[in-house]
Amino acid sequence: MTHLAQKKIILGITGGIAAYKSAELTRRLKEQGADVRVVMTPGAKEFITPLTFQALSGNPVSDSLLDRDAEAAMGHIELARWADLILVAPASADFLARLSHGFANDLLSTLCLATSAPIAVAPAMNQLMWKNKATQANCHTLKQRGILLLGPNSGDQACGETGLGRMMEPDQLVSATASLLRNNDPQAGPLHGKKVVITAGPTREALDPIRFISNHSSGKMGFALARAALAAGAQTIIIAGPVYQETPNGAERINTVTAKGMYRASLEHAPSADIFIATAAVADYRPLQIAGQKIKKSAKQISIELTRNPDIIAAVAALPEKPFTVGFAAETNDLINYAKGKLQNKKLDLIVANDVARSDIGFNSDQNAVTVISADKHQNLAQANKDQIAEQLIKIIASAL
Ligand code: C5P
Repeated sequence: MTHLAQKKIILGITGGIAAYKSAELTRRLKEQGADVRVVMTPGAKEFITPLTFQALSGNPVSDSLLDRDAEAAMGHIELARWADLILVAPASADFLARLSHGFANDLLSTLCLATSAPIAVAPAMNQLMWKNKATQANCHTLKQRGILLLGPNSGDQACGETGLGRMMEPDQLVSATASLLRNNDPQAGPLHGKKVVITAGPTREALDPIRFISNHSSGKMGFALARAALAAGAQTIIIAGPVYQETPNGAERINTVTAKGMYRASLEHAPSADIFIATAAVADYRPLQIAGQKIKKSAKQISIELTRNPDIIAAVAALPEKPFTVGFAAETNDLINYAKGKLQNKKLDLIVANDVARSDIGFNSDQNAVTVISADKHQNLAQANKDQIAEQLIKIIASAL
């Protein structure tokens, strides 16, 4: 039995030639014990008939938002509540665009807005449509919102071209769906019952009422780790500096501005945490005096006296019952040696070293490549997007616990 047994799945089908594979997908999901209800867009019905899916799923197929009989049988809100998961396969470029913009102009897009269940989409389209910046931007938005993108695969396409854009095969979709449901099952994740506190983003240190000292940290790595920790079943608190990142569903977010503010929030929550991960690029110094009024330009040169900020992670690692403590070392040179020094000096359990001299990874980038260092070993994680790096880091942390 897999995690699909007795799970209620809405299989959304949109207009694309890959819709013929969704017939096989329906059978595979049923074989695993899932209860499947198929919802088709008008475009999908141009490729394959509802009758096929009704026969394969053993349930009526829904295809209209404003159908009185269908609403009387199982209304769209009821259907949205019924689902443990919505899987849209194939997901056309048009559907991805509508979903990313929150449209509710057919039954399937309305269900996606009205559900609290996880949503996974399996894009399928011509390779140029997939590569198009509009499609990529829509997919980026969907990922940021926690929607899982499955595929697409690369290969020959029905249109005669070759490239990325083929829908994932039904067997691949079944196993990806099973692992999504397993990851969303709070009883099943490797961090179930654990509390994880993550600091993320930069801090801002005021010079006067309108100016501050800060850095380029985007918070992307910290928020990716929060998503991965949630997927692993952890209670997740993210202590964020000023960043434009969406709070992942299920995480508690505490907004801070200065290093002192982030320190206070961390020391409040870390003592009850099992894991503390410090991805924040905390300002090491702050102006000794904050001018009460805007500093005027008059003198040719002025000096600002700076004073040290508290080291948040070192304070957490010095707690009597310290959580498993993970730091990040962003360096421009001699990466491994500096990182090892910080591991020892700050008494960390693990340090994640990344080279910020490279423009293709690290600060502000969606990609990262890191070396994970503990007292007795090194592990390189090859360049990948920050969500993939975060998943690997959470696995390493869970097994080190
Ligand atoms: O000393 P450095 O800033 O390079 O150390 C990096 C690690 O220490 C990161 O995990 C960072 O979040 C953490 N740190 C902190 N408080 C500070 C400075 C750094 O928690 N004041």
